[in-house]
Amino acid sequence: MVVADLDCSVGINTLLFVSMVISTVADAQHHNELGCHSMEFQLNDLPRNDFNRLFYSLQQLEHDFHMAIGEAEDNYANNSRLQRKALLKTKPVLDKAVRQVCMALHPRAMIVADLGCSVGANTLLFVSNVINTVADAQHHDELRCHPMELQFFLNDLSGNDFNQVFKSVKQFTKSIAASHPKGVALPPFYISGLPGSYYTRLFPCQSVHLFHSSYCLHWRSQMIKDMDEKMSDINGGNIYIAKSTPPSVVKMFQDQFQKDMSLFLKL
Ligand SMILES: C[S@@+](CC[C@H](N)C(=O)[O-])C[C@H]1O[C@@H](n2cnc3c(N)ncnc32)[C@H](O)[C@@H]1O
Repeated sequence: MVVADLDCSVGINTLLFVSMVISTVADAQHHNELGCHSMEFQLNDLPRNDFNRLFYSLQQLEHDFHMAIGEAEDNYANNSRLQRKALLKTKPVLDKAVRQVCMALHPRAMIVADLGCSVGANTLLFVSNVINTVADAQHHDELRCHPMELQFFLNDLSGNDFNQVFKSVKQFTKSIAASHPKGVALPPFYISGLPGSYYTRLFPCQSVHLFHSSYCLHWRSQMIKDMDEKMSDINGGNIYIAKSTPPSVVKMFQDQFQKDMSLFLKL
């Protein structure tokens, strides 16, 4: 069940609404009035709303290692050229995956998730690649199906600067329409933010057609167990495997990776 709260603002009222819907459904399920439903809430407001505050109150992760936020020079938006290069290199793989999903499933609305979207232009480069691929395939009648709509979910940890993401979405929507060749129709698209760790369940079962994640899955779900200050000294102050990392610490990283990756694949 998808529930939308329009004009959600920040603060407790929208969360009160969410909790009332959850309680009603839980109560009805408890009394066998309903089958088992998973729920997805979409909280809507204008891009200038303080989504950072709203998302933070939705979910406070114990360890939230998001990227540097704000307008400063060291923020992620200004320091992500390496990651951009990776997106450009993997574009042919993405094109192929998008076409395969369209041709195999013919969805009316294709649901696409970018896990670990961060802020800045990279996640929107991914979004524009998907939109352009679908537009191009529809224009050349490769999909042989009805016109398709696209719904994007941009996911990151709740401390991510979603305010910045939503502000750039507004500009993006204008520029993609302007830069598109005349005569090629763009598919209608919708972009939502989704706070939360991809090491937890983020979507109802079988509701997403395409998952994308770039430069993210090497992030662990938590600090390596027992990696206290003393351990961090042993690892030269690094929170990753460096050249000088002792084999015992490498093993700890590997064990944590194995646990995280198995969980991610199971979810
Ligand atoms: C290096 S950035 C990559 C951002 C973007 N995909 C790109 O290509 O530029 C990694 C992002 O992954 C996010 N991240 C790390 N662990 C995460 C988790 N468990 N769930 C969701 N996002 C996570 C971080 O907050 C960060 O924004």
